[in-house]
Amino acid sequence: MLLASRIRQIPPSATLALNAKANQLKAQGMDIVNFGVGEPDFETPENIREAGIRAIRDGFTRYTPVGGIPELKEAIVRRFQEDYGLVYRPSEIVVSCGGKHALYNLFQVFFNPGDEVLIPAPYWVSYVPMAMLAEAVPIVVPTREENGFKLTPAELREHLTPRTKALVLNSPSNPTGSLYSRAELEALAPEVLEHGLYVISDDIYDKIRFDGAPFINMAMLSPELKARTFVLNGLSKTYAMTGWRIGYLAGPEAAIQAAVNLQSQSTSNPNSVAQKAGVEALNGPQEAVAAMVAEFAWRRDDIYQRVMGIPGVTTTKPAGAFYIFPNFSFYYDILKPAAGQSHSQALADYLLGEVQVAAVPGAEFGEDNCLRFSFATSRERIATGLARIQAALKKLGK
Ligand SMILES: Cc1ncc(COP(=O)(O)O)c(C=O)c1O
Repeated sequence: MLLASRIRQIPPSATLALNAKANQLKAQGMDIVNFGVGEPDFETPENIREAGIRAIRDGFTRYTPVGGIPELKEAIVRRFQEDYGLVYRPSEIVVSCGGKHALYNLFQVFFNPGDEVLIPAPYWVSYVPMAMLAEAVPIVVPTREENGFKLTPAELREHLTPRTKALVLNSPSNPTGSLYSRAELEALAPEVLEHGLYVISDDIYDKIRFDGAPFINMAMLSPELKARTFVLNGLSKTYAMTGWRIGYLAGPEAAIQAAVNLQSQSTSNPNSVAQKAGVEALNGPQEAVAAMVAEFAWRRDDIYQRVMGIPGVTTTKPAGAFYIFPNFSFYYDILKPAAGQSHSQALADYLLGEVQVAAVPGAEFGEDNCLRFSFATSRERIATGLARIQAALKKLGK
């Protein structure tokens, strides 16, 4: 069967594929330490689950307005204002079936064929395929480890063309855990304004930050920049609600209403019960979030220290999210990849085969020197996994 060319060029999600492979080995009885997962290892807080149950009991099980129920949009509006001083009208917000869906919609309604979108690497795995599915041209902009993998104005400028329409920023970052400071965004802002770019700000990890580091995005810098910024967020990571599928996008009304229109002809509204649970997540007590972030902070310290203890390995210290992205290139001259394989894939295969540790090859994120480890797993698994990695690398005899 000849499938559409638009899907033939798209690889399946590498992170979901790795997870499936690790689970398959686990089912065969192997003791796998899985650092591949991109979701919190916590239950959705009780009050949120109860709100979902209540919604079912109350029969809140029908179609809702396509772009989300007014109550949820109001909760989102309030949180933007209270948390970050960002003022949006409900018509500038669309609720979708997860952040991924919200972003997909944006790419579909915003880009024409040939429009270029700047994607700093290391990047989240879905930005490039989403650009391709919209027939836009993904322009990958490499960043440097010594800059904490954060984009500089010079790197941005180097990749600009008359066709550049947008820049994707993701802070805190998946896969690096890097967090942009106000000064770093202020340095990029003149480029955005001067070249008439739009910013797609993926803030899905905004609440998962360590050491009291403040959160800032482009929209918060000035009204002028807010008018050129789309802010993506959702409930998956902050509230351990990955399976509920609630994400949202805020930004210029014309594009938001176009996304609602697209949604009306594709998925219709996000799940009604999940929307009610989402209202409770945003309006209810936030203590559970603080407890999860505190646990992630402990693990961040622990895994960072263990990674730094491995000879030859360097890493940036994650300031947010729940990933660490160490550089293993010290070992690449010994561990030769098979034909057509990346170095990071060869190392990931070696670790899985040799010591049953699953991590995602950095090549999937556009940085082959590194592997991504999620620390959304228990303290015990982190200690076991890192000890195994150290032993496996020692065997290489460097
Ligand atoms: C950077 C980034 N953006 C967006 C998403 C989308 O998450 P969801 O679709 O669960 O809201 C993810 C999830 O892995 C992510 O890591």
